Amino acid sequence: MNEIIITNLKNEKDLEVLAELYANYYNNSVLEEKWTKETTTKLFMYFYNQAPDLMFVAYDNDKPIGIIMSVLKPWWDGMHLEDGEVFVSKDYQMGGIAKRLFKTLFQYAIDKYDATTLEAHTYEDEKGFPYSWYKRLGFETIDDWKIISGNIKEIIKKL
Ligand SMILES: CC(C)(COP(=O)(O)OP(=O)(O)OC[C@H]1O[C@@H](n2cnc3c(N)ncnc32)[C@H](O)[C@@H]1OP(=O)(O)O)[C@@H](O)C(=O)NCCC(=O)NCCS
Repeated sequence: MNEIIITNLKNEKDLEVLAELYANYYNNSVLEEKWTKETTTKLFMYFYNQAPDLMFVAYDNDKPIGIIMSVLKPWWDGMHLEDGEVFVSKDYQMGGIAKRLFKTLFQYAIDKYDATTLEAHTYEDEKGFPYSWYKRLGFETIDDWKIISGNIKEIIKKL
């Protein structure tokens, strides 16, 4: 395997390559989501348009094989990395690439924005991953917070 380089996005077309891999992965995961290359590219562009400097990509030569992205939110106790996404192509998983992506993002966000915290949604597969990994790293579930999701076209009728 070549040396994997982590850097900011080189070319917007690289997002389409990663989008196809991401859609394929999540559509076959325990979450049973129904992503397409188009909807995933929109998700990636949502992050890229807001904070291109907070998007880092892992490249094998010029082939994009992993990505991390986040937005930055000012909160009462400082700057928070919010709503992040991380993904590594299946063929390259378990090689330490996600660790390098997180480390690069965190070091940059600390140096540039004095960021203090990362907050994100996560999930667990049948073996408890990746939630188990985040807990090992020191992330905590905030029991007082509830993530809510609702169909606003229905809810509006009750308001
Ligand atoms: C989560 C993900 C980004 C990890 O990427 P990766 O490059 O394989 O991770 P790393 O090789 O850096 O490993 C990080 C840790 O996770 C563990 N790990 C990685 N894949 C694992 C798996 N499938 N099952 C159990 N543990 C796993 C590693 O052993 C390592 O643990 P350690 O530091 O305690 O030794 C990758 O599995 C992925 O893209 N999954 C699909 C998308 C996803 O779930 N994103 C996170 C949403 S919150």
